[in-house]
Amino acid sequence: MPKPKLLSTRPLFEPVRETLDEHFDMEYWTRPERIPRDEFLARVAGKNGLICLLTEKVDEELLAQAPNLRLVATVSVGFDNIDVPACTRHGVVAANTPDVVGETTADFAWVLIFAVARRLLEGVEMIQSQSWTGWDLDLLCGADVWGKTLGVVGLGRIGRAVARRAQGFRMKVLYSDALQATGEVERELGAEYVSLERLLAVADFISLHVPLLPATRHLISTAQLARMKKSAFLINTSRGPVIDEKALIVALDEGQIAGAALDVYENEPRVNAGLLGRKNVVLTPHIASASLETRTKMAAIAAENAIALFSGRRPPNAINPDVLEKSQSSSR
Ligand code: DGY
Repeated sequence: MPKPKLLSTRPLFEPVRETLDEHFDMEYWTRPERIPRDEFLARVAGKNGLICLLTEKVDEELLAQAPNLRLVATVSVGFDNIDVPACTRHGVVAANTPDVVGETTADFAWVLIFAVARRLLEGVEMIQSQSWTGWDLDLLCGADVWGKTLGVVGLGRIGRAVARRAQGFRMKVLYSDALQATGEVERELGAEYVSLERLLAVADFISLHVPLLPATRHLISTAQLARMKKSAFLINTSRGPVIDEKALIVALDEGQIAGAALDVYENEPRVNAGLLGRKNVVLTPHIASASLETRTKMAAIAAENAIALFSGRRPPNAINPDVLEKSQSSSR
């Protein structure tokens, strides 16, 4: 039996490649630049499966050109790069890597909280530029984090991991979400369920952890920023379009909030020029889950999803498992 043919848009990590090579006839895009769209479409055309990143769009155009495709496994928890209904229409299983990024991403949300509150980048710059003239009473005084109120918007895996860490800093934790968590989860996290409006009005640090959906696009815009305290900070490790960047820039210009720390942007990899060069804004290049351990696990999970599907099992992280049910009932 010939092995199923898979395209991976990145070389992934060596142990994962070894596993994939055992099971599949693999083609990897190995050039340092991202796979250009025309190459992507051409190379996926004869494949049975695709392992891709969140930067690659899997849409109707691609699916129409890849009639043998049965699986799209994105190496990311977010899957806004995939048109899932189109996959379902084409009988293609879409899968993501949900279980492994939570703790690592939560660590990074805290890196951002502390960096922006304690003016880390200004301090580093002072040392690097050799402009530090010695200890002074009011030198780079930032804001305390401990004992303040944290507002977690979206209490999924990542939001929970962020909330759990707040206990160590003796913070009050508020959260908003479409659904209230169970009493047990709330007690474990010491978190109180409030409306988004209340959270915005009360929290000192607001950390976003919602997926990108039509309902969460520009969830934070002019009206929401206006509700925030002048002393509050906005942190985003979710998806860029959850914040209306134009509105954020106006809020920063007008001193409506104390600062922001962003790992994700509306039009990646472009960063809105209005966000640059501000002392109270910390910007990082979408690296919240970028520990070697976690990124390797993410690639391994994408491989597991592929191995499961092509050995006749349900991929552990199928987003549209109804495709499998349909194909089973039609083969009966
Ligand atoms: C994801 O997985 O969706 C992140 O944005 C990168 O870890």
